Amino acid sequence: MNRREFFKISWGTVGLAALVSGVGVSLAAVIRFLMPSVFYEPPQSFKIGEPGDFPFGPPTFLVDEKIFVFRDREKGFAVASAVCTHLGCTVAHFSSDQRFHCPCHGSVFAADGSVQHGPAPRALDWFEVTMARDGKLLVNKDKVVPPNYRLMV
Ligand code: FES
Repeated sequence: MNRREFFKISWGTVGLAALVSGVGVSLAAVIRFLMPSVFYEPPQSFKIGEPGDFPFGPPTFLVDEKIFVFRDREKGFAVASAVCTHLGCTVAHFSSDQRFHCPCHGSVFAADGSVQHGPAPRALDWFEVTMARDGKLLVNKDKVVPPNYRLMV
């Protein structure tokens, strides 16, 4: 093999490799384009358990759902969001003063979720809670209800 033939074969191989990699990258881009860019969120409607799972008195905090479940003998069930309306931190409920406190920037919410001390711009949300056919409590975060909404069981 002389020098000219060597370069002919080398450049041919390099060109073929560049063509294959270019086609591969283009194909990957087309496949990525065809795949939907979906942002998966947890379901907004979910069951939280039987009514008997929740004690009377202080609310039960469900960490994964970021909600407080209140159960009152006279008033029934109510579900409040634990997400601060300022920047989304998780608020804590203090039974000592019956209020919600945000640890991030100090917002304080009254027992009904209304803002008592900013910077939170609006009240905490309350979500609809209903009884499913199987006897479990069903919370729907898509349905915001007034703070006085209750499910009597
Ligand atoms: S996130 Fe709650 S006060 Fe800022």
